[in-house]
Amino acid sequence: KENKLWGGRFEQTVTDKVEKFTESISFDKELYKHDIMGSKAHASMLAKQGLIGESDKDSILKGLDEIQRKIEAGEFEWREDREDVHMNIEATLTEMIGEPAKKLHTARSRNDQVLTDFKLWCRDAIDRIAASIKNLQVAMVKLALSNEGLIVPGYTHLQRAQPVLLPHLLLAYVEQLERDAGRLLDCKLRMNFCPLGACALAGTGLPIDRFMTSEALGFTAPMRNSIDAVSDRDFVMEFLSVNSITAIHLSRLGEEWVLWASEEFGFLIPSDSVSTGSSIMPQKKNPDPMELVRGKSARVIGDLVTLLTLCKGLPLAYNRDLQEDKEPVFDSVKTVVGMLEVSAEFAQNITFNRERIQKSLPAGHLDATTLADYLVNKGLPFRTAHEVVGTCVHLCVSRNLRLEDLTLDDLKHISPAFNQDVYEYLGVENAVNKFSSYGSTGSACVASQLDYWVTKLEIS
Ligand code: ARG
Repeated sequence: KENKLWGGRFEQTVTDKVEKFTESISFDKELYKHDIMGSKAHASMLAKQGLIGESDKDSILKGLDEIQRKIEAGEFEWREDREDVHMNIEATLTEMIGEPAKKLHTARSRNDQVLTDFKLWCRDAIDRIAASIKNLQVAMVKLALSNEGLIVPGYTHLQRAQPVLLPHLLLAYVEQLERDAGRLLDCKLRMNFCPLGACALAGTGLPIDRFMTSEALGFTAPMRNSIDAVSDRDFVMEFLSVNSITAIHLSRLGEEWVLWASEEFGFLIPSDSVSTGSSIMPQKKNPDPMELVRGKSARVIGDLVTLLTLCKGLPLAYNRDLQEDKEPVFDSVKTVVGMLEVSAEFAQNITFNRERIQKSLPAGHLDATTLADYLVNKGLPFRTAHEVVGTCVHLCVSRNLRLEDLTLDDLKHISPAFNQDVYEYLGVENAVNKFSSYGSTGSACVASQLDYWVTKLEIS
């Protein structure tokens, strides 16, 4: 067996079971690019500070570049007995360039190294997710643009409430996604402080320059407290919390579209390219992608809970438990990106069944609240107007009529405040046209929301 990089004080080698149980190379090789980036910054700083020679630095940088090339060409041998990504790269570097490689770990511990790598990885992941969020927003806005003017029932309690324009509804999701992107950027700003140089936990007496490595790696500043630097995992808790919120937004979208694709609603028709069939029922066409968007949100929440539970009992500073922090993050990122991408693809491949929607609109007295507003305009207190319209609805229910079917006599019988102009308020088209408050579903307001997003998302 090869001597471990930490083997000096040991008389026995670890058992195979322990080696297998404690390794992390099987998953943390994902960090290789960021590990190399961090090591290059560290080596340059060590040379500038006179802790290693210029020629040491040069051969370290060259060696690391060669290792990156090998990894990307699939020529690098990842060894389980070398435990993790950091020691795999360092040990291979030592084989390649000899003595200079043994100086690389000066004034560094894997504890600050792993966090530096992980933060750099998360920063990139945040950019990837933000790009996928924007992509979905664009798909939703385009869907809204191609359905301008389409009135759909709006629901509360999943009961018919008021008529709304479909673009208004779609843009509600775009707003949620915008806040998700904002939370990601926020999280990145807070995360972007550099742990490198905190070493094991206490810092070092060697004359390093933490500001130099921090800047070289694009961090805002070095972390102030070395113990905090190697123990901090709240940046990942925050990241996975943000991902969980995004996942829940997508899950709600998934639920709505699955519902709308049902025979009972029939409002939405997914194209065959985003549907799947049944192995037994020949007639089936299922909206599986959006069901799985809903379903996979469970993993994202699970990843967050794993991380929270992992950290809850840990004293300062580094504990090996923390090695378990990576897989949930990798899984969360991969899952959320997949959910965002497939939601965008679904949005690009659905049509709304205008005929079916149109036919459904008369049901449920969607114009009742607008009718109450009419009476307010005529001077009735709102509570009285509510009562009067309630009586009108009661009459409609008993005679199986729509509000607009009631004669002026019927209406006047209930309240003398009704006049011929009431018919300008009844029916879903009239009702939608009456909305005018800021942020409402009125067509002018929805048009200006659409303008806002088209400009903001640079849609042409
Ligand atoms: N593989 C470890 C992790 O991911 C790296 C840090 C190990 N440090 C240690 N002292 N064993 O957390």
